[in-house]
Amino acid sequence: MSHQQPLWSGRFKEPLSEIALRFSSSIDLDKQFYQEDIAGSVAHVEMLAATKIISSEEARRIRTALKSIAKEIAHGKLDLSWDKEDIHMAIEQRLIQKIGPLGGKLHTARSRNDQVALDERLYLRGAIKELQKLILQLQRVLLYKAEKYFDTLMPGYTHLQRAQPVYLSHHLLAYVSMLERDFERLHDCRKRLNKLPLGAAALAGTSFPIDRALVARKLGFDGIVENSMDAVSDRDYLIEFIATCSIIMTHLSRFGEELVLWSSQEFAFARTNDAYTTGSSIMPQKKNPDMAELVRGKAGRIFGDLVNILTTMKALPLAYNRDMQEDKLPLFDAVATTRQCLFIFSHILVHTTFDKKRFEEELKNDFLTATEIADYLVKKGVSFREAHSITGKIVTHAIEHKKGLSQLKLIELKHFSAKLEDDVFELLAPHKSIEHKKSAGSTSPLEVKKQIIHWTRALKTKKM
Ligand code: ARG
Repeated sequence: MSHQQPLWSGRFKEPLSEIALRFSSSIDLDKQFYQEDIAGSVAHVEMLAATKIISSEEARRIRTALKSIAKEIAHGKLDLSWDKEDIHMAIEQRLIQKIGPLGGKLHTARSRNDQVALDERLYLRGAIKELQKLILQLQRVLLYKAEKYFDTLMPGYTHLQRAQPVYLSHHLLAYVSMLERDFERLHDCRKRLNKLPLGAAALAGTSFPIDRALVARKLGFDGIVENSMDAVSDRDYLIEFIATCSIIMTHLSRFGEELVLWSSQEFAFARTNDAYTTGSSIMPQKKNPDMAELVRGKAGRIFGDLVNILTTMKALPLAYNRDMQEDKLPLFDAVATTRQCLFIFSHILVHTTFDKKRFEEELKNDFLTATEIADYLVKKGVSFREAHSITGKIVTHAIEHKKGLSQLKLIELKHFSAKLEDDVFELLAPHKSIEHKKSAGSTSPLEVKKQIIHWTRALKTKKM
């Protein structure tokens, strides 16, 4: 038996087999929150002194040792291999090694069940802040591009069929709005998770006169998780966080997909700098939008993390069950992957240029402004349904005669409705159609300008 026996092995006659320890060890993943674990222990030990459960001198010595352990880990000087079981045990073992039996007092009035929930909540607070910063950065890049390509016209699509002309800036700003809601969702998620679970102990609380509110204040929580069983047994904060990551990734995957399409020779609307694209090992002519594809692909991975945590938690009886240790993989994966994708996306976008001419070519000789004819007729008293039908017939006529709408003669139009006059042609130019939009939030130059002004101000003053 090469490994040291666990700190909890008192009631066991036989040592834990190496096979079982290897199987149940989680330190490979949970070592990522050693800082949170130590911060939690420091606050706990200070509270134990404040409530006279241990002396201040004892607390001081434990705290000093914990801080030096944090340094050892940061410098890779502490062995955190599988036989340490988990990060909580590894740190406590090291503490006892450093200061002797006094180290054993740290775990008074505490269990790993409330400790691990605390570490996760602390870790998520940090992760949320990072993701919010990255969202803000991406919003700024989008806004910058929206200003740069303010009046670039493009075909707006529905069903991936050309629908109506829009501004590219309008399209880009749609993502700024989506990301804003993601930012808020993270904020909401933080609000709900920012409660202290520590002090619940294993599940029933403790007979020591601990001060949970004091620990909550020390660690920047907005209060405590009231019910001790709830505190150690739920992972809804994790589910909510990964669900939020899933929505972020859905948004990124849609834009990723558009960049993939727009970089194709068929669309040729966008070009990403060589530094952010890759070649093919066999086809020398290829320049592939791999980064955008990977973002699109990694969205699936995050949805997997969500299903993973939901399935782990489903139907688990209260309170703590060891199944819950499996929450680390989706947690760390969702944080790292979402962070990476938000980060790379800003870079991809900075290094992408859009081709104004190509966009506009696709607006020529087309039927994107057909709705204008219908609206024109409506303004002359025709019902919308009838106007829609008349316009449909005009479109069919134009297609049959291999013409664009603006190439039709007035006389041809009159055949479909006497109400059509020369001035209808003015509306058929894509830029005219855009200028005629009046509704709030539309793609009209005025409304898009308003959005730009709004976001310039909002992103500048954003509170984190
Ligand atoms: N490594 C464990 C986890 O992540 C810590 C809690 C263990 N608690 C227990 N009673 N075995 O869930």
